[in-house]
Amino acid sequence: MLEFKHNEGWAITIATDHRTVSALVADVIAEQVAATPNIVWSLPTGSTPIPLFDILAARAAREEIDFRNVVFFSLDDYLGLHPSDPNSLSGWLQREFLNRVNVQPANVHLIPADDPIPGEAARHYDADLTRCGGFDLVVLGIGENGHIAFNEPGSEASTRTRVVEMTPETREQAAGYWNDQFRMPGQAMTIGMANILEARQIVLLVTGSVKATVLAEALTGDISHHVPASILRLAGARLHIFADASAASQLNLN
Ligand code: GLP
Repeated sequence: MLEFKHNEGWAITIATDHRTVSALVADVIAEQVAATPNIVWSLPTGSTPIPLFDILAARAAREEIDFRNVVFFSLDDYLGLHPSDPNSLSGWLQREFLNRVNVQPANVHLIPADDPIPGEAARHYDADLTRCGGFDLVVLGIGENGHIAFNEPGSEASTRTRVVEMTPETREQAAGYWNDQFRMPGQAMTIGMANILEARQIVLLVTGSVKATVLAEALTGDISHHVPASILRLAGARLHIFADASAASQLNLN
């Protein structure tokens, strides 16, 4: 395991493989929940967090982590999809994680991507998050084009929860998860970069060689809306990146 602290304040921990690095992120979550049982937090969707979900569910089953009082806000979903839709990210998160642990349904806020007036619903969701005090801990994944949640390239640091257009690359990447990709919306609802930057702690989990180029760009290139993940560096010491060796293979940190 390798730990590096950058002079911008953020830290990166590199572990051998996906499972090992996921266990380290599970440790961070467990520590936070133990210290503040009612933390406001979030988890990403995608293939990256699957081992993390399994580790957290196993620890919860052994009563090592108690999620009873945590407050959960989901990050993003395809526009127009209800959580009961098999392609909904919120629904997927419920099946893959939330329903496997003792998170209380009343404490779960799912992004209202299926609301008939999405712009207004997004603003209410943002206000709900603010009312709850904002994120204590936000755990994120990264898209191959550097997107964070569905904050695509071009997303500024000041963005808040809103409806966004998905890029063709993101749609192509997501198509693999859809059983009927022709039904995939071109838009999504996502929390914004500002909601994330305001978090007291930001954890970015990155695994696999397919993410190596974008991770190097995000951490060693300019801080720019062209690579939304690079904007996370503005959080300084509140940002901790956890990568496996494959994802970190193109990093040259000095
Ligand atoms: C989607 C989600 C992101 C996620 C990204 C990476 O686009 N909106 O929140 O981080 O995919 O997914 P994966 O882990 O499958 O590479």
